[in-house]
Order: sequence, then C-alpha cells, then structure tokens
Amino acid sequence: MSSDLSPIDKAKFVAAKKAVEFVEDGMRVGLGTGSTAAWMVRCLGELVREEGLKIRGVPTSTRTAALAQECGIEVVSLDAAKWLDLTIDGADEFDADLNLIKGGGGALLQEKIVATASDQMIVISDVSKEVETLGGFPLPVEVIPFGWQTTQALIEETLVSMDVLGRSASLRMNGDSPYVTDEGNHILDLHLKRIGDSRQMAMLLNQMPGVVENGLFIDICDRVVIGYGDGKVEVRDINAGTIEENIVDFVENENLFSDLTD
Ligand code: A5P
Repeated sequence: MSSDLSPIDKAKFVAAKKAVEFVEDGMRVGLGTGSTAAWMVRCLGELVREEGLKIRGVPTSTRTAALAQECGIEVVSLDAAKWLDLTIDGADEFDADLNLIKGGGGALLQEKIVATASDQMIVISDVSKEVETLGGFPLPVEVIPFGWQTTQALIEETLVSMDVLGRSASLRMNGDSPYVTDEGNHILDLHLKRIGDSRQMAMLLNQMPGVVENGLFIDICDRVVIGYGDGKVEVRDINAGTIEENIVDFVENENLFSDLTD
C-alpha cells in the first residue's frame, strides 16, 4: 500500500510516474533495472492495460523482463527492436553533466547496450543520487570469470596513476559465491571515492583484457527526472539546458503497490 511507502520510495515512484509521460504510442522502449526502474515498469504496465498504450519493451535484465511481462508489456529482444526511441532507467549516481554510475543492481552491460541503442535516455532518481563528482558509489566493472583475479590486479595497478581517492577493488558476492551477471560474468566493485576524470577512467577500463564493460555512462543520458518524497519532480534536460518542476499526484493504486518484486 502506498501509505506504507517510505519517502524515498515515494520519490522513486513520482520520478517514474513523470518519466512515463515521455512514452508515446508505438515507441520501442528500453526498460531499466533496479528498484526505481521497477516503478517505471509498473507505471508503464498500467498505461498499457488501462489506457491502451501500445509499446514494445526491451528489458535490461531477466528480472525486468519477468516484471514487464507480469505487467502486460509486450517484451521483445533488442535485436528484434533493432533501435529504441527511449530508454528509462535508474542510476546509482549522476552529476551535473548527467554522467552516471550504474550497475549497483548488476545489470550494467545490458543497460549500457540498450541505452546506447536509444534515441534518448531518461534517468529516474531520488535526489540522493545527485553528486558533484562521481565515485562515492563503488564503480561496478563487469569482468569475465576467466582470470578475474589477474584482471583485478591489472585494474588496481592502473589505478595507481589515476586521479582517484581510493584504489581497491572487491569481487561482488552473492552469499558465499561470486555474483554472476545475466551474461555469466562477475563484477568487481572499485572503491574510488572520487573519480577525477570519469571519461578517461571509462576508456582505460574498457581497454583491459578481461573487462567486459564498466558502469560509467558518459554522454549517454539526455534527461534526469528527480523525484522528492512530497510529490515534487524536477526534469533536467541536458541538451535543451532546461529545468522544469511539477507535482505528481500520489494516488493510491493497489495494482501498482502490491507485490513489487524488484
Ligand atoms: C542496475 O544494474 C543499476 O544500474 C540500477 O539502475 C541502479 O543500481 C539504480 O538502482 P535503484 O533504482 O534500485 O537504486
């Protein structure tokens, strides 16, 4: 029930609710992963079921695919969709240029492929994810399991000459076992505290053998929709240089608020 939602969940919900206003009939839409993106999938599902919105959704993880299907959204593969009109996803951090850290939920690889194959990317977030400089959130790096410790050592060695405040990497775990992504890879979380040059960091990481992709999304996001616990939303458009504020009605809806699986 909505009345049980914490202010942070209300903020995520209103950001999601506002972001789906950018979805139009006939669009091919990239569906992000994580707790904020799950609200967006629920809101889109409601528009599909109750207002006849016709869209095809390309999920960025197996769990988003399951949720989208449960919500009544037609799910297609990225290859079937070929190109997307819009992707809406959450983020772990964003800065003033709308550069992001993503991958806290482990889906960064599909998320980056899908967002890059989209005309537009909208990030939905509560205000706590906004930072002056990226890097407070550990940077996820997807690595292939073969020789992951060697890859970790190579990354840590490279970090010595980088403008960062921390230089350790840890293998993400799922209980007693290494976390395994949808592509069968592992994730190293880099504890950098502050990334002086995120563009350089993204390029260097992706040049290393064993690294599949990193969680820095540079020049990919077009808009951020920031939600607040009181229903306020702020839409920042980096291309137009505009900031708009609105209030989203927080209406109780059993279908949206029950059984949220992500
Ligand atoms: C998933 O891999 C991530 O990129 C998420 O988009 C990010 O971690 C935000 O998740 P929350 O919305 O749950 O904070």
